[in-house]
Amino acid sequence: MLIFPVISALLLAPVPYFVLTSSTIQPAKFAVLNVATVGARTYLYGGNGTIMELSTHGVPSDPTAYDTWAFFPGVSTLNITNAAPSTDFAVIGYTSPVTGAFTTRLWYQATNGSIITAYHSGLADDPPWVLDPVVIATVPLGTPLSAFHSNLNGVLPEIIVIQYPDVNGLLTHRWTTTEGVNGIWSAPVTITT
Ligand SMILES: *[C@@H]1O[C@H](CO)[C@@H](O)[C@H](O)[C@H]1NC(C)=O
Ligand SMILES: *[C@@H]1O[C@H](CO)[C@@H](O)[C@H](O)[C@H]1NC(C)=O
Ligand SMILES: *[C@@H]1O[C@H](CO)[C@@H](O)[C@H](O)[C@H]1NC(C)=O
Repeated sequence: MLIFPVISALLLAPVPYFVLTSSTIQPAKFAVLNVATVGARTYLYGGNGTIMELSTHGVPSDPTAYDTWAFFPGVSTLNITNAAPSTDFAVIGYTSPVTGAFTTRLWYQATNGSIITAYHSGLADDPPWVLDPVVIATVPLGTPLSAFHSNLNGVLPEIIVIQYPDVNGLLTHRWTTTEGVNGIWSAPVTITT
């Protein structure tokens, strides 16, 4: 198994917020994403400000394949070194009604409190991941994050929504209807009932 040398290397260093042995991972927070025909991905804090991505190639027709996970380069190609150890993760994956490709968006929190989003277009000739320049919000470290994508029948319009408690703890969201790295994010909307 190719993953064991990687795990062994990580074991040599002190790793805050999760414990890694040759077979188990104990994350503080994480998010998992179904990536349809190619299995699933789990995102978690990787130590030293990094974000780690785990991959399985399991599919519904081969359920036991979900039992095998490995480190995946994925979002680590962004070389993020400012993820907060207490960061939550929100992740969505969907077939883009614009490009037809399987698109992914991940949100995390940087050490300075900013909620940042990373985008993966899924198109073969695009860079694997890019950071959206918009800071979604600046909120206390460890703020929970949750997101969704909605689109009907594979045709526009679409909406991408990220929810979080704002600096006052009020449930808030921002949304965009655009596809691509630079979401045109709405002003923060405080959710009331
Ligand atoms: C964190 O950085 C230190 C110093 O560069 C390094 O020795 C260690 O392996 C890194 N830990 C992880 C989990 O990457
Ligand atoms: C991340 O680091 C690698 C190795 O130094 C480099 O090849 C790559 O271009 C970097 N990625 C970004 C997005 O800067
Ligand atoms: C906080 O960090 C993020 C991610 O690096 C950056 O985009 C943002 O500009 C920073 N905010 C401030 C106020 O420096």
